[in-house]
Parts: sequence; C-alpha cells; structure tokens
Amino acid sequence: MKVRLFKPCVGEEELAQIKEVFDISWLGMGGKVPEFENKWKAFIGATAAMGVNSATAALQLAIGAFGFPKGKKVLVPAQTFVSTALAPLHNGLDVKFVDADEETLGMSVEDLERKYDEECVAVMPVHFGGHPVKMDAVVEFANAKGLKVIEDCAHTQGGEYQGKKLGTFGDVGCFSFEEKKGMTTGDGGMLVSDDEALVERLRPTRWLGIDKDTWKRSAGYTQTGEQDAYHWYYEIDHAGFKFNMNNLAAAIGLAQMEKLDWMNERKARAIGRYMEGLSDVEEARPIVPFDLDGYSSYWIFGLRVPKRDELILHLKAKEIATSVHYTPLPMHPLFKDHKEPCPVAEKAYGEMVTLPLFPEISDEEIDYVVEHVRTFYGK
Ligand SMILES: Cc1ncc(COP(=O)(O)O)c(C=O)c1O
Repeated sequence: MKVRLFKPCVGEEELAQIKEVFDISWLGMGGKVPEFENKWKAFIGATAAMGVNSATAALQLAIGAFGFPKGKKVLVPAQTFVSTALAPLHNGLDVKFVDADEETLGMSVEDLERKYDEECVAVMPVHFGGHPVKMDAVVEFANAKGLKVIEDCAHTQGGEYQGKKLGTFGDVGCFSFEEKKGMTTGDGGMLVSDDEALVERLRPTRWLGIDKDTWKRSAGYTQTGEQDAYHWYYEIDHAGFKFNMNNLAAAIGLAQMEKLDWMNERKARAIGRYMEGLSDVEEARPIVPFDLDGYSSYWIFGLRVPKRDELILHLKAKEIATSVHYTPLPMHPLFKDHKEPCPVAEKAYGEMVTLPLFPEISDEEIDYVVEHVRTFYGK
C-alpha cells in the first residue's frame, strides 16, 4: 500500500463551479471573488474579508496596513513557515523570534513576554498544525504593550478557541488555501478583519494600487447600461501588488466551503484513529495535544519521537510518505544574525515527523501507518 501525505479533496462540485467561470469566460478577478469573500467572512464571523493569491500575500498586506516605521520589530514564532517572517521583512521591518510552547508548539506566551522590547510593534501568532494559540493571553499582552496582532491561520480553516473562530482574535487574520491545506483553491488566501476601513484601504493595494478593479469597471458599463465615456478610467495613488484572487480560485473555494465542515470532521476522526492506535506506544507523543472535542480544523497529524530519522526511512520502505514541519526559522541562513534563543523549537525539530492526513484517508491507510509505527517501536 502507498500512502500519500496530503491529498486535496476535489471533484465534481469544484468542476461544476469552474464550469460556471468558463461559461462566462471571465477567469481573472471577477464576481466569484466577492461571493467567496462574503461566504468566508460569514463562516469565520468577521466583518470584512479580502481574497488574495496566497496567505503569504495576505500576511504581507496585513503588516503593511499599519504603516509601521521602518526598522521596527515584529514578534514571530521560531516554529513556522517562512511566510510569517517574510511579511515583516518585505515591509522594511525586522523579526524577533519567539520560542515555541513545549506542549502545543505554538507561540510561548512566557517567551513572548521575555522577547518583547520597546522596538516591537506587532506579534504574529501561528496556530501551529491547527492547534490554537492561547489567544486570550496573547491579545491581553499585546493590548498592554500596544502591539498589533496578526493571526497566521494558514494551518486552520475554521478551528476554534474557546468557542470562537481562529482569525477573529487579532486585528487581522490570514488564511491559506494552498493545495495541501485543509481547504484549497489551488493557491489562494484570505485576509479577514473587523476593521472594515482597513480592509477597504487594502483592496487597491492587492490590485497594483488601482482604485477600481477591471471587473467593477466593466460590470458597471457593460451590464447596467450605464452611459459613461470614462467607464475605463482609474487612478493609482500608491505602489500596490498583483496579489488578487482570481475567479477560478474563488470558484474552487466556493465549492470547497460546501464540504469544509465534513473535511474538518473527517480529519478529526482520522486523528482520533491514529491516537487510539498509538496510545500504548510510549515513544510516540502526538506532535500537538490534539483536542477533538468541539470544532477542530487540524492541518497535520504528526508525532514527536526518538529515532525520528530511522522512523522516516522505515516508513519510506513501506511506501508511507512523511515530512518534517518545519526547520525552525532561526536555523536558516537568512536569519543567521538572529541569535534569540529558541531551545524548545530547536529540540522539538529533532523529534518531529508529519504523517499522512487528508479528509479522504481510509481506515485501512491509517491502520497501515499505525502498524508500521508500532512495529518500528517494537509493539
Ligand atoms: C504558517 C504558514 N503561514 C503562511 C503560509 C503561506 O501560505 P501560502 O502558501 O498560501 O502563501 C504557510 C504555508 O505553508 C504556513 O504554513
């Protein structure tokens, strides 16, 4: 048996949505984008949402929205994907790395308090693997210090903390719909906020700085019988980015949203089966303390284990795909000048392994992976 690590759950529903886009022959930014934005903001419970072409773009726009003075610092977890740290760097800011919480591998609130200094202007918690960061504590600390909070929700699409959707605790929440994520649009992302004015300010920035997008200009002129010889006219008052979501991606997103609850439920069930199958393997500690009561949206299932590299090779021999998420950012050459100690993230890095998880993973596939982890540890 061959077991994949990730597998997007796409089929007839997505094809039907894509067909609608083909039928009107409008593949770029168009009417499906606001439709998807409205559906997403209702699901998440935010006042405003803006579709972009990745979470990387959403994070960059979110940090840029506050106009922080160049050279200030943003508190970023050591245990994350590089996009979190690129957002400050591309905005002329520096990063200050915060260590992981030993139990959850999310941002450690104690280390956040230690690493903070007066040059810090924002904090970017990442719900690692889909496990919620203690957002009440982070927001309380951020408010006390005047820090903006940008939640990186790339690993969760609908997960909750204390009954409230992740992405709604901070000033801005940023989601990923990249192909391996809990829900996909191929590539794509969404920025949400309760600050509607902030999101409206960013709309032209995602579209090169142009104040009226092509869809709006054309829809007004061609579909409403409007008489305006200057319907094509637009202005640019700042240097924006080509970060927009397109109609094809939004169409896929609309279809994916219809099955999102089901996909999240399926993953929770799969994680439960893994945990049960491995419960007596002392060496196999779940990578995060998976909490499957209530609404969860986990992205990965993984373990923290001794002899991690040997386990990876053992599973490879059985055609089971694995990975490691992630090398802590301070260990990359890009951050060689950042000497902040992050011992928890570095220790966990040597023990982590990501195992197959996706909504349509079968019981047989899970049991096959479990069996080979068990035999590796002599069970
Ligand atoms: C924590 C985190 N933030 C941001 C991103 C970037 O997402 P995207 O690929 O949509 O730009 C990722 C992607 O893996 C991620 O893991």
